[in-house]
Amino acid sequence: MPGPAKPPTILVFDSGLGGLSVFREIARARPDASFVYAADDAGFPYGDLSEHALVARVGEVMDLLIDAVRPDLVVIACNTASTAALPSLRARHAMPFVGTVPAVKPACAASRSRRVSILATPGTVRRDYTSELVRAFADGCTVDLVPSPRLAALAEAVLSGQSVDDGEIAAEIAPCFVSQGGRATDTVVLACTHYPLIADRLARLALWPVAWIDPAPAIARRVVSLIGPAPQDLAEPEPVRLVSTGRPLEPGRIGAIIARPVAAPDLLATPPVLVS
Ligand code: DGL
Repeated sequence: MPGPAKPPTILVFDSGLGGLSVFREIARARPDASFVYAADDAGFPYGDLSEHALVARVGEVMDLLIDAVRPDLVVIACNTASTAALPSLRARHAMPFVGTVPAVKPACAASRSRRVSILATPGTVRRDYTSELVRAFADGCTVDLVPSPRLAALAEAVLSGQSVDDGEIAAEIAPCFVSQGGRATDTVVLACTHYPLIADRLARLALWPVAWIDPAPAIARRVVSLIGPAPQDLAEPEPVRLVSTGRPLEPGRIGAIIARPVAAPDLLATPPVLVS
């Protein structure tokens, strides 16, 4: 009789720690999988890179990671990278890629005031991919695209244990709150994976209560639809492998965020980031 199927290897990728918000949901859905979490912190922040530089960077780093990890499935847990680089990644590699893109459709379907903000990095806001999502799924809502130049870096600082003033976070999210013609924003899409990791601060600093839309549960469902659900009999999960390109990731901090055992971190040597 054949033994139990080998658990899939899933590579979860972001420019920094933000992808951990997506990782948590995937690990809940497939706790048996063998996970690698990779952060291209030498390229952070992706939100400042041109589309050309970003596609080149993500392509290069992903070639190296795929060679080293041999994943069965890759999750690009980064809106900024997904909205630019998914087509070229899918064209270059055979395994399935699951992207993370602004959750315009569920947000607009849920909004009662019909006014929705998309909070994202400047790169994601600029992307044709994002305008196309708004055109296709606004469903009659007014959609405000809100570029945040600093919120991903502020979240990264909070997650690394630094203290960040409320005022700095409040200034980044204030433009999401629009009240015009008797209609006020009631739904904000967290269109950068870093933001759900500081959701408590965002809710506390909101100008009024809104629904915050985090795409992570939908991404986990997509992963399960591609590779199937977890088996009934679960073995002890393997420690998550951590890879970064700048500084070694801190296993203690990451283990606390994802509530899973993590292995000693690895560094991946990568070429310099293109500047134009
Ligand atoms: N976490 C990334 C995203 O979802 C962005 C952070 C960055 O600018 O690198 O868009």
